[in-house]
Amino acid sequence: MPEQPRGELVIQTIAMPKDTNPNGDIFGGWLTSQMDLGSAILAAKTAQARVVTVAMEGMSFLQPVRVGDTVRCYARVDRIGRTSMTIPVEVWVTRFMTGEDHRVTHGVFTLVAVDETGKPIPVKRNQPRMDTN
Ligand SMILES: CC(C)(COP(=O)(O)OP(=O)(O)OC[C@H]1O[C@@H](n2cnc3c(N)ncnc32)[C@H](O)[C@@H]1OP(=O)(O)O)[C@@H](O)C(=O)NCCC(=O)NCCS
Repeated sequence: MPEQPRGELVIQTIAMPKDTNPNGDIFGGWLTSQMDLGSAILAAKTAQARVVTVAMEGMSFLQPVRVGDTVRCYARVDRIGRTSMTIPVEVWVTRFMTGEDHRVTHGVFTLVAVDETGKPIPVKRNQPRMDTN
């Protein structure tokens, strides 16, 4: 059985020429920023609060992303601490023209719920987990 994305679809977009590196493939920083945004969407929904990224770990770039690929970020809440949430994020692409699906990147993001002054606040424990598989 082919590998399937793990988590909730949080971002879907198309890789554009402006996001390429000198090799003509998509710049890793752009991909990382999509993952950061995707993890923040899920963290903010989980905590029902503002969130900031405190750490990103274990980034692996498995395959290049090409212009025209559809890029999808999947995120899931792996752990809720007192104020922090650990959110693994996977990026999958659907190749332009062939329609093949590939997992291209994964990493683990830690986000902290904060108040309006940027001070950490507890994540409400009665929130349901948002991960889907
Ligand atoms: C995130 C921030 C508010 C945390 O403030 P702090 O004074 O370090 O707060 P704490 O020490 O209480 O840590 C808060 C939580 O983050 C966790 N944490 C802190 N540093 C961490 C790290 N490097 N990796 C993983 N978790 C970390 C702590 O374990 C704690 O989790 P818990 O409450 O679930 O136990 C502060 O570091 C900050 O504002 N950082 C900048 C965030 C930012 O601007 N991000 C965008 C990057 S451009």
